Amino acid sequence: MLAPEGGHVNPDEIAFLALEPIQGVGGYRFPSESFMEEVAAVTDEYDIPLVVDEIQSGVGRTGEIWASDHYAIEPDVIASAKALRVGATISRSEVFPSEKNRLGSTFGGGDLLGSMMGAFTLDAIREHDLLANATERGRQARELIGDRAPDCVEDVRGKGLMLAVEFDTPARRAGVVEAALERGLLTLGCGKKTIRLLPPLDATEREIEMGVSLFCDAIDAVGPSPRVS
Ligand SMILES: Cc1ncc(COP(=O)(O)O)c(C=O)c1O
Repeated sequence: MLAPEGGHVNPDEIAFLALEPIQGVGGYRFPSESFMEEVAAVTDEYDIPLVVDEIQSGVGRTGEIWASDHYAIEPDVIASAKALRVGATISRSEVFPSEKNRLGSTFGGGDLLGSMMGAFTLDAIREHDLLANATERGRQARELIGDRAPDCVEDVRGKGLMLAVEFDTPARRAGVVEAALERGLLTLGCGKKTIRLLPPLDATEREIEMGVSLFCDAIDAVGPSPRVS
């Protein structure tokens, strides 16, 4: 659309490009490296600021501090919250030259206490090497689920501890969420027929084993034809 030949959008009229480097509520979709290379090339070529929404994917969950770090993109602005305990907009100083230390959040209150929790969270990630733990425990969880997954599981995917299991139908997904809850395991849907799993960054090998075991028991308990909910 932006190409000088045949394009119909004037690049000067584009204020910014915003994207979730990994889609959250939409279905834990992980873009291909080549797609992100194209995003980087287009934003570079036309000098379009890149805003990334790292509210679900940021602060270590994927095994890197930012999900963007897995890809070729170099964001100009990062929106962060949730795992950071406070909502924060992080940017290159050229983007917001006069804005200093502004915090706001629908999740964390955006106050001094939230800011301190955020700072301690980042310290703890460094001090306890939690990025490496997220990478390793995520690999363990994907392998364990993959080994036990019956045919109704269409995909097991993830980066670090940002994990997703996609089922054959929305009804099965709903059944598994319910059966997992009955076993004391809290899960949440995303997309149409996917469950997201987001264990804490300091999850241990044993905890992942236990969680995966409960999750797979829940899948088995739903049986061959889940009722439509
Ligand atoms: C990726 C992402 N962005 C943003 C938000 C929150 O946005 P808002 O604070 O505007 O409700 C959420 C909440 O779940 C989210 O998952």
